[in-house]
Amino acid sequence: MKINKVKGTYDVLPSESIKWQKLEQFLKRILTNYNYEEIRTPIFEYSEVFHRDSEMSDMVTKETYNFLDRGNRNITLRPEGTAGVIRAFVENKMYVDGFNKLFYIGPNFRYERPQKGRYRQFYQFGVEAIGSIDPLLDAEVIILGYHIMNELKLDNILVKINTLGDDKSKLVYEDELRKHFMPHKAELCKDCQERIDKNPLRILDCKIDMHHEAVINAPTPYDFLTGEAKTHFEKVVEELDKANVPYEINKRLVRGLDYYSHTVFEIDAKIEGFGAQNTLLGGGRYEKLVEELGGPKTSAVGFASGMERLLYAIEIENKDFFKAKAIDAFLLTLDENSKNYQTKLLYDLRSEDLKVDAMYIERSFRSALKFALNQNPKYLLILGENELKNNSIQVKDTKTEKQEEVLLKDLINYLKEEK
Ligand code: HAM
Repeated sequence: MKINKVKGTYDVLPSESIKWQKLEQFLKRILTNYNYEEIRTPIFEYSEVFHRDSEMSDMVTKETYNFLDRGNRNITLRPEGTAGVIRAFVENKMYVDGFNKLFYIGPNFRYERPQKGRYRQFYQFGVEAIGSIDPLLDAEVIILGYHIMNELKLDNILVKINTLGDDKSKLVYEDELRKHFMPHKAELCKDCQERIDKNPLRILDCKIDMHHEAVINAPTPYDFLTGEAKTHFEKVVEELDKANVPYEINKRLVRGLDYYSHTVFEIDAKIEGFGAQNTLLGGGRYEKLVEELGGPKTSAVGFASGMERLLYAIEIENKDFFKAKAIDAFLLTLDENSKNYQTKLLYDLRSEDLKVDAMYIERSFRSALKFALNQNPKYLLILGENELKNNSIQVKDTKTEKQEEVLLKDLINYLKEEK
């Protein structure tokens, strides 16, 4: 019986997984340069981690994968990284360190309508900087997101930022929104009718009502900011200006999760043919989550980015990113006699931390060569009768096409020098 993959999932075959590896290596380099440390949390948690009274977003109320395990515990596959990271932060009392900068890479699960760039299992990389209300940290996190997109040579990106204000401003703003939307209740979609009471901010994000006049003319958080919240946001903006990071203030940006206060931001790809799923990264500051999950009052800021979308964007805008050398060398032996040396030679080279491979299927030299070049080696190593006689090997640089006969005893140094 043939069984297909679950709707909204995908396989990563070797030709694609090399791209994933490159992207992950690239991200880890930049994230560690900013001194973020990796945290790995489980892909499932007790449901309460995500299903909190304060979290009424569609993502959590309608899109999570929930199940009872065999011990009758309510379990949820994580739909995002932040809540699990904060659960681990609290459980492991990481707050005693005062301040933590964490990053993560891993799969998440949302029961959404699958389409290009939107999956039911998808990968995010993200950061959480926990334990400081310093607006310079909001700026650092936004700059980090921008830096990554910029270094990936994605030209057509747009950084959008906004503030929801602190909790005090947010409460006043929500009340104002309720007053504003009440007279239009009957005209709004069913979900939004409920949202007026429960979470009026979410109406601003509604895909159905987005063109409704009441939504377009809704008040923005700016009119209700406390002095403190205003100063915080102005400082964030000032820091972005100083660093020459381009951004656009978008007063309607509210984000899809409910835990945010103060700064929120997104980075969109404005890439032709990219389709509707063009938000590469989203995040913001959150002030209540640590307490809600049993920790001390702690302010934090972070973001997450969808890696499938990032890979698409790289494919469109920076194909060279994937072209870099995949392995150091590929060995081609020309006859049975030279093949006798293959296993030992590969082992010697690999023991020296060189990435090498050889042919394991019978092919003509021409098609073996084609196979070898497909592995994207920096060098081709060619071993035949003549070379064996001389205790040497032919080394061909696949880029410059320069070929040299190198003594076998010098091979490791030769390859390493050029590495
Ligand atoms: P989010 O906006 O829900 O935020 O997701 C962040 C990013 O994940 C999106 O911008 C998008 O690139 C990607 N993404 C979301 N859903 C899917 C999907 N179904 N398929 C493919 N990609 C998807 C969060 O998850 C927050 N935890 C971000 C955060 C961290 N805020 C503070 N810290």
